[in-house]
Amino acid sequence: MTRLDKLIAGSGRFSRSEAREAIRAGRVSALGRVLTRPEERVEEDLPVLVDGERLRTDALRYFMLDKPAGVLTASRDARQPTVLELLPAELRRLGLQPVGRLDKDTTGLLLLTNDGDFAHRVISPKSGVVKTYLARTQGDVDAEDERGFARGLELEDGTKCLPAGLESLGDGLCLVRVQEGKYHQVKRMLAARGKPVLELRRLAIGGLELDERLGSGNLRELFPGEIELVFAHSHRL
Ligand code: URA
Repeated sequence: MTRLDKLIAGSGRFSRSEAREAIRAGRVSALGRVLTRPEERVEEDLPVLVDGERLRTDALRYFMLDKPAGVLTASRDARQPTVLELLPAELRRLGLQPVGRLDKDTTGLLLLTNDGDFAHRVISPKSGVVKTYLARTQGDVDAEDERGFARGLELEDGTKCLPAGLESLGDGLCLVRVQEGKYHQVKRMLAARGKPVLELRRLAIGGLELDERLGSGNLRELFPGEIELVFAHSHRL
């Protein structure tokens, strides 16, 4: 059981005081009854209507963002724009956090959620969630580079990488699949092969692909079923 105003504020569409106002104004109903007391205790899964429309009250929320270049993957920064500042006001109240990081100049699929356990599972190398990137490099990657990735590269500072996938697409483009998330990993791996990255875009996390219809800087909530897709094909490069 929870307080009605808390349940409504949990949807992210209303602050706690806006929820109280809406309740007192008679805009909230459930099961055919208008609810006018913010402090009323209700079941968490009560189907609540606000202005006749069903309110989403699930506490855990999952979004995909097509991250633009020039934006930091951080909650707050004094000087530079962050991904959380791209969120509309009603989503800023949900306590969403980025799942892992993309570099400032990297674009593409970034998940945002307030489900800390999910975020931890996605990031943990134990889960073997494979992230797919499209990279534009200076010079085409070749078969020897592909074999080096498959064996597991050693970076210039001696860091050893797990086996990764590399596939040349020609014209300076390649697909990279990694199953861990070390600092600047893809850039450092390609640099170690003498093919510095000029542009990097994340296309997929596990079996979940970036919705290219979103457009840069936009986000949408994941559909039911898409959350599990993240863990599909784990450990398979
Ligand atoms: N690897 C990188 O080098 N940068 C990213 O942003 C993501 C993976």
